Amino acid sequence: MITKEKINEIVKGYDSKKIKIATLCSHCALQLFHGARAEGIKTIGICTPERKKVYDSFSQAAPDEYLLVDDPKEAFAGGVDEELLKKNAILVPHGSLVEYSGNALMEIKVPIVGNRNSLLWERDRQKMFEWMKEAKLQLPKIIKPEEIDRPCIVKFPGAKGGRGYMAVNSYEEFERKVKDREGVMVQEYLAGIRIYPHYFYSPISKEGYRASEGSVELMGVDRRYESNVDEIYRPLSAGMSIQPSFTVVGNEPIVLRESLLGEILEIGKNVVEAAERMFGGIPGPFCIETVCDENLQFYAFEISSRIVAGTNLYPRGSPYSVYAYKEEMSMGRRIAREIKLAAKEKKLHKIVY
Ligand SMILES: Nc1ncnc2c1ncn2[C@@H]1O[C@H](COP(=O)(O)OP(=O)(O)O)[C@@H](O)[C@H]1O
Ligand SMILES: [Mg+2]
Repeated sequence: MITKEKINEIVKGYDSKKIKIATLCSHCALQLFHGARAEGIKTIGICTPERKKVYDSFSQAAPDEYLLVDDPKEAFAGGVDEELLKKNAILVPHGSLVEYSGNALMEIKVPIVGNRNSLLWERDRQKMFEWMKEAKLQLPKIIKPEEIDRPCIVKFPGAKGGRGYMAVNSYEEFERKVKDREGVMVQEYLAGIRIYPHYFYSPISKEGYRASEGSVELMGVDRRYESNVDEIYRPLSAGMSIQPSFTVVGNEPIVLRESLLGEILEIGKNVVEAAERMFGGIPGPFCIETVCDENLQFYAFEISSRIVAGTNLYPRGSPYSVYAYKEEMSMGRRIAREIKLAAKEKKLHKIVY
């Protein structure tokens, strides 16, 4: 993995007035380009030739320039960083970029918003649970397959948007349904409402909710729509016998009871401070996936230490960002603003790795 010192050196060599934001044209790229434009930062879209026309069709969110690549996977594995370096680019990682770039992301010479160490911690489910434990979050019980004594969810390695996960009630059912056990995790099934708060942690800001040396901001909240579990009452009501599945299809906005906000902010702060202690922090956007039960207790089951697609609901800001900013503040714009402020104060090394 490229060292933090090397990235600091590279970002120090950048002309702070000519910094550009680059990302892969996918996932939440429109939001990122749109937000950067609002902050007056130029953008680079890493894009396949066929996709370019899609992005060009959105006049307020198309990137300022394209870096055309035939195959994003190959591009990340070889050479795209040289091009980006010449352009003073800072890369913003999102779900598709992380997926396409794979291990190459660890070696890329371009500064990345956030901390690449965090990718190692969120990639490995056991390590992610260690991190969440260190943050003192309430977690679902992890259960050995032989000891399944309640409804459980079985998760396979790698984030695939819930695809292929299954519910089981006993070891016998587990044995019957799960063929490959490599890297499988069995968790107790949490009943309640799923809540996915989107946070932004700034080590250089004093606004927002104080956390570590800076502050954490609640930028929005969403809930994912998963097929078929989220409308399972329909086939059930028709008398079908059906197994739940958890494939993400989309996102919907959610606004919390105001009395829950204190807990939500505290959870964000604790995750930031645990990351700081364990692997050097998580500057930038992140999301904690939780279930809130009938006693208003939050249980966390995943952290994404990067921008999540649920933020696409709020290109003009959310019912939370509107109370913190005069401007329409999307997550994409917030990232661009952080880059701008850090560049001005010569603190880019604090927000990239
Ligand atoms: N412990 C749990 N109890 C109930 N549902 C869960 C639990 N963990 C995950 N889920 C459901 O499965 C979906 C995918 O799980 P997640 O761990 O987020 O996997 P991925 O890494 O694919 O995003 C979640 O969005 C949620 O609906
Ligand atoms: Mg998830």
